[in-house]
Amino acid sequence: MKSLATWGGACLAIGLIAGTTFWGISSWKAQTEKPFMLSPETVASYLHAVIEAQRTVYTTNVVDTLQSKGIHAEEHWKQQKALPLPAQMILDGGRLVAEKGLGFKYRLASNTPIYVWNSPATDFERTGLEVVSKNPDKPFTGFVRVGRDRFFQAIYADRAVSQACVACHNAHLNSPKKDYQLNDVMGGIIITIPVTEP
Ligand code: HEC
Repeated sequence: MKSLATWGGACLAIGLIAGTTFWGISSWKAQTEKPFMLSPETVASYLHAVIEAQRTVYTTNVVDTLQSKGIHAEEHWKQQKALPLPAQMILDGGRLVAEKGLGFKYRLASNTPIYVWNSPATDFERTGLEVVSKNPDKPFTGFVRVGRDRFFQAIYADRAVSQACVACHNAHLNSPKKDYQLNDVMGGIIITIPVTEP
């Protein structure tokens, strides 16, 4: 009687384990077979987080640290054996990414740029930079068409987070704006993601 009960218990346990495993595998299969979709807003927010984090890490861990050892970030860093400006890190990184031909692009831009190549390229970008300068807490987003291709663009405000941003831009000979103040929006990070036709 006792051994029958033990066998019964063992069978029940095996059945439960097998059942749970099967349920686990089938629900895992169902999950992996589900098409995995991310909205372009989400993709842009991930990319923006990476771009911004890289600049912050470069600024704090490299520029700020080496400044105390007498090595500075300068615009003409190659000639002056100095460090590239954080803005140049973003712009140069963006150029390298563009060369990959993925259709995905990012850059720094402004409606009052130091250099014309950092001006908005389209009305959408001009409007976006204008909107985020007044409402910097959320990106300006939308779909644009270039010829036959369709893109999603997200423009994130770029703020004067330190006095160094303000001082350098206000003093730069090329800058059309000389009255930036701390926390002002100085421009934006424009992220462009190719999207397939619906
Ligand atoms: C030492 C000078 C210097 C400092 C400090 C500096 N910038 Fe700039 N910034 C520049 C230069 C020069 C460019 C243009 C680089 C290029 O196009 O090659 C630029 C470009 C930009 C642009 C693109 C539009 C434009 O003006 O051409 C933005 C936006 C920008 N900087 C924001 C900032 C912010 C925000 C900070 C602080 C976190 C900052 N900058 C710190 C010199 C500086």
